[in-house]
Amino acid sequence: MQTDVVIIGAGAAGLMCAIEAGKRGRKVIVLEHANKPGKKILMSGGGRCNFTNYDIRADHYLSRNPHFCKSALSRYTQWDFIALLDRHHIPWHEKAHGQLFCDHSARDVLNMLLDECRRAGVEIRLNCSVERIEQPDASSSSADNRFTLYTTREKIETGSLVIASGGLSIPKMCATPFGYRIAEQFGHTIQPTRAALVPFTLQPQDRTRFSELTGVSVDSIVSHARISFRENILFTHRGLSGPAILQISSYWQPGETISVNLLPDQDVVTYLKTRQNHQPRSKLKTVLGEILPKRLVAVILDSTLIETPLQALSHTRFDAIARQLQQWEITPGGSEGYRTAEVTLGGVDCDELSSKTMESRRVPGLYFIGEVVDVTGWLGGYNFQWAWSSGWVAGQVV
Ligand code: FDA
Repeated sequence: MQTDVVIIGAGAAGLMCAIEAGKRGRKVIVLEHANKPGKKILMSGGGRCNFTNYDIRADHYLSRNPHFCKSALSRYTQWDFIALLDRHHIPWHEKAHGQLFCDHSARDVLNMLLDECRRAGVEIRLNCSVERIEQPDASSSSADNRFTLYTTREKIETGSLVIASGGLSIPKMCATPFGYRIAEQFGHTIQPTRAALVPFTLQPQDRTRFSELTGVSVDSIVSHARISFRENILFTHRGLSGPAILQISSYWQPGETISVNLLPDQDVVTYLKTRQNHQPRSKLKTVLGEILPKRLVAVILDSTLIETPLQALSHTRFDAIARQLQQWEITPGGSEGYRTAEVTLGGVDCDELSSKTMESRRVPGLYFIGEVVDVTGWLGGYNFQWAWSSGWVAGQVV
């Protein structure tokens, strides 16, 4: 069969692109190998979908080309997506850090996209895999050069082919390397991929040491090289998680150490001096237990030290205690990998795509959108906004 546009992947980016192309009167088919569209939308934001952020800007994205995302993000903004939700009367709210969530359920966002697809005449084919893609004259730069897709159901010819198959995170949710393979087939460079927004595992000795802290959560500043994030960290039975850890994981390389300030708002030395004056006989663990979880104090500091009364501790010792709590250094053993990562770093090299349309500079008619591209957002709605924006700009031209 013949069509104008084939989009591979019925996720956030693919559905947005399909809606826009369909509204322009293009005949659009979305091919999805899973049994349902938008599975990641449904599981996102703890089931409430953190669909965008008030503070969308390029420096909240990682990419080998940090300027690439600017064009799409400025043409389809967070305000545009908010307006779309409002038109569908979907209630939402802001959480911390400008993050916007559905009041009820992520399903509201998916239903809205599917409703828009229906209105735009988009056909979504589920349980459909693409076995092979050919372009009869791959050497031609003619815009008329069509793509032939051999799917598990039939052969489809299309003028525009959009790859929206996402990254590698959560294979159980049907993530595949398909998009990268197709990009390579058509001569594109892939920036190395890596799990991001992912919990850390600990080295064996640390895992034993911190095992009793499972469930402890602390507001912290987590730093690495030139970047810091202030949010909670969470001790888990496998290692470290929580938003601050997920954020820093996108910048971390194996073997590197991260620094954690467990008391970001405290002048620890002044606090200890004041308590020393007022309660000289109180033990260190008692006064620190008022500002930090007691279990954490017991694990981070020396067991004899914490039993010591404040009157027996020098001010130099207070300095050292402050350093241990505010510059706590830990070298993760690794990350939990794609099994639990929210996103994939790296992907199709931006320099080989048009930032305005997401079209390949190598193969006219071929487009890459969403997570498969080497653009990765921070935690907090940035990744969905990239999916909406890149999908929207491609949808204007495919
Ligand atoms: P996406 O992965 O959504 O869609 C790709 C589609 O392609 C999938 O439906 C897949 O099945 C299909 N596909 C793959 N290979 C195929 C093939 N060979 N043939 C056919 N179809 C194929 N972001 C955010 O901003 N806010 C949030 O709250 C969250 N929360 C969150 C929670 C969890 C648990 C995860 C794993 C991720 C998030 N994210 C997030 C990240 C966000 O989900 C992600 O960035 C977007 O879904 C990316 O959209 P895409 O459309 O590019 O890929």
